[in-house]
Amino acid sequence: MRKITLGSFVLSFILVGCSNMSSQNTPMNNEHMGGNTDSQQDMGGMMHGNVPLLESSKGLKALAIPPILEKQQGQDYDYEVIAQKGNTEFFDGVSTDTYGYNGDLLGPTLKIEEGESVDVKITNNLDEPTTFHWHGLEVRGEIDGGPHGGIQPGDSQIVTLEADQPAATLWYHPHIDGSTAEQVFKGLSGMLLIDEKPSSASQLPTEYGVDDIPLIFQDRLFDDNKQLNYNKLMNDDGTLGTVSIINGTIHPKLTVTKPVMRFRLLNGANARNYTFRLSNGDRFTQIASDGGLLDEPVETKSLTLAASERAEILIDFSKLTDEESLSLINDEGIELLPFDVALDDSPASSPEMWTADEPFLTAQEKARPVSKDIELFGMMDMVTINGKKFDPNRIDLRQEQGVTEVWEVYNKPDMMGGMIHPFHIHGTQFKIISRDGKEPEPNEQGLKDSVLVNPGEKVKLLVTFPEEGIFMFHCHILEHEDNGMMGQIEVF
Ligand code: C2O
Ligand code: CU
Ligand code: CU
Repeated sequence: MRKITLGSFVLSFILVGCSNMSSQNTPMNNEHMGGNTDSQQDMGGMMHGNVPLLESSKGLKALAIPPILEKQQGQDYDYEVIAQKGNTEFFDGVSTDTYGYNGDLLGPTLKIEEGESVDVKITNNLDEPTTFHWHGLEVRGEIDGGPHGGIQPGDSQIVTLEADQPAATLWYHPHIDGSTAEQVFKGLSGMLLIDEKPSSASQLPTEYGVDDIPLIFQDRLFDDNKQLNYNKLMNDDGTLGTVSIINGTIHPKLTVTKPVMRFRLLNGANARNYTFRLSNGDRFTQIASDGGLLDEPVETKSLTLAASERAEILIDFSKLTDEESLSLINDEGIELLPFDVALDDSPASSPEMWTADEPFLTAQEKARPVSKDIELFGMMDMVTINGKKFDPNRIDLRQEQGVTEVWEVYNKPDMMGGMIHPFHIHGTQFKIISRDGKEPEPNEQGLKDSVLVNPGEKVKLLVTFPEEGIFMFHCHILEHEDNGMMGQIEVF
């Protein structure tokens, strides 16, 4: 591998302007958003399409960092994750009813090392059934925590999670049929990190909470009593809010002490798409996508994540002057996370970057014929995959374990243009072969488990399942999933 440094590699892709005006009046923020796009900003008005604008962070509170889940001592399992009810003070003096894992809101970060296998005790202390789904982890269908894996209130189970895949930023959340959106909305989500082996030569920042920061982006809507009243607030096309929370913190700010910081971005929203930028317009470096490091790091000014997608980025703070302020903003110019830069005297040496020594896809992989067709269609509660709604008793597709197939996912537009659907497959990390016949952008040349599919677009995926069992594939707008935009594949 040829080594180059962060500051020196050249812009290796073309920023794509956006002029997709034909579907402006559709229900979602529907700019052409696959890959690295540099779409125009829309600063005016309270709405962007029908997507309400977020409020800017006033930087009032230190960003919460989810604690790392501690290993159990003297138990017959390594970790315990408990889904439970809690109370969170989002607003001063007001208690909001929430859900959390091992706490009031969200969950601790579960870290597993590449190649490691751990036993996790999962317990449901809610008043309703739930499941524990390990989003992005290639485990057997049985323990994947799909809708079949319901755990009744008061019950526990021990599952063995094996990290038999590259280091990556994954996450966990409930997946109970019909109530996934509500349970996530109330606070059930956590990060699941597969760590690089300590022996690996990477010089990427790895000090959790110091220069390696998880960021769970969500938007919330509260009722008049400042409650997360899902049944009252929900929207069949994806519940959207104006309140931005990161790691559960409203109006967060982050004090940055290291010159080069690694951020692990998770779009944990029920439906909202996020396009991230830096407030000074500078570039940052994307190093990883859903399933691990990119083939090659990518310098970019903007990065879009649909619901459930992740990315890891590096931001270099060493060149900021004392007077300059910096925030992570979204495409509408809303400040999501203001930074307070107070660098310690660590040397400002950029980590060594890597280049790909082989093409992302072989000629053979690109030439493989399509063997599975997926058609996403509809909106609100009229959403389907291949014309059908989810039926837990129906197997929609079958694929042999370890055998690679090409899935073509088509987002069929409707009379109003259609909307973006983030398409997710359990039990696999796939590669994007093409979008409408075009090679994926460099920042999608890495392993993925979710892919943003624009209205009218056809995306080809190279899919292999390393484990057996029944797995879900679905739209990750959680309300669409709950409304039946989901199917099942049996891997045999
Ligand atoms: Cu994030 Cu079916 O899951
Ligand atoms: Cu999943
Ligand atoms: Cu959808």
